[in-house]
Amino acid sequence: MSTISPVRERFDAELTHLATLTDSTRPGWTRRALSEEDIAGRDFARSLMRQAGLTTRVDGAGNVIGVLPGRLGGRQIMLGSHTDTVDGGGRFDGITGVLGAIEVVRLLRENDIRLDHDLVIVVFFNEEPNDFGFFCLGSRAMTGLVDRSTLAATDSTGRTLAQALPDSGIDPEEFLTSGFDFTNVTAFLELHIEQGPELERGGAQIGVVETITGINHFRALFTGRQDHAGTTSMSVRADAGCAAAGTVLAVESIAESGTNTRGTSGQIRFTPEAVNVVSENAVVEGEFRGPDGSWLHEAARRLTEAAGQEADRRGVTMEIEWTTDDAPVPLNQPITATITEAAAELGLSRSRMFSGAGHDAGIIAAKTQVGMIFVPSVDGRSHCPEEFTALDDVLPGISVLLETVLRLDGSLRH
Ligand code: GLV
Ligand code: MN
Ligand code: MN
Repeated sequence: MSTISPVRERFDAELTHLATLTDSTRPGWTRRALSEEDIAGRDFARSLMRQAGLTTRVDGAGNVIGVLPGRLGGRQIMLGSHTDTVDGGGRFDGITGVLGAIEVVRLLRENDIRLDHDLVIVVFFNEEPNDFGFFCLGSRAMTGLVDRSTLAATDSTGRTLAQALPDSGIDPEEFLTSGFDFTNVTAFLELHIEQGPELERGGAQIGVVETITGINHFRALFTGRQDHAGTTSMSVRADAGCAAAGTVLAVESIAESGTNTRGTSGQIRFTPEAVNVVSENAVVEGEFRGPDGSWLHEAARRLTEAAGQEADRRGVTMEIEWTTDDAPVPLNQPITATITEAAAELGLSRSRMFSGAGHDAGIIAAKTQVGMIFVPSVDGRSHCPEEFTALDDVLPGISVLLETVLRLDGSLRH
């Protein structure tokens, strides 16, 4: 068992510094992917990696990759998370896992522990949903899940992702060919805050994730007719806004019909946006989540039908696009067992968890065996400025990450 403790002061200082690399015009700690602040955040993480002794590079998809060579070379254990946030987000989502992984490197070096495996640390580009309808973009690029249709996706201004990427120093052609060779990656681990209330409620210090939720994202476009709000009688309108509003309610009722299922319409836009004009266009973007892949497909079918009906009965046309269709991901059983043993060895209370949040770990799971370690979130709050995890709760998570790496390094040697 390792008796090495993470260093509170440096984690605290780095967390505090990252919190300054944020958009001061937005609430909370906003560092959205494809922004200047996001570039600064990933640069800062890269500088920490270098100071920790890693050889670093940025791949063609903006992922920052650092390597600590092992004794045997060749075989790799990968750790990682993200530094981008949602608009109005918090200081811990993703960041905990990035700083925690870098702390593991420092602790290994300071204690003269040389792993057999190379240790690879990844700060994934663009984990949170961007304006083009994608999330986990960096990990999708690493695992070969992007193509020309990804680059052709547009935001609400009609700009394509291919046009936006160069502002973040990413060449669209290189983006398409930035797959990572996972042949020698024996395991991937992500430390993350829970973002929900279960650990706090149950009094457990460590969550061992068993399954990551499935997520379907949609974008529905409604086209009606622009008219005067005072002179156009209700019976002759083709109000795209009303069709969109009916769709928002359909998302809610479909999600309420499942078990542990969720449905959210997080974005809606009307055009023109004027109080005295009937909307000609409306766009709704939202998602379904849940532990059952077949339910998610059924929810997508039902929503497509409901949005079509909302449009039809108003003389509006509707097009719907499912921009992501990620099945639930069961995590690797032996890795989950190793995390549990590591937490037990360290005397930490633990609980098996379902993750209702999406993670890069879920994408990487297509390529190697994956495990996730959760630490508690105060009041279960996340994706909001109030998101908080006390350092006393973060540090045990880093200890479990280190102990799990040491155990996997021994057991996955051959
Ligand atoms: C990622 O944070 C997600 O669950 O949307
Ligand atoms: Mn998030
Ligand atoms: Mn996250």
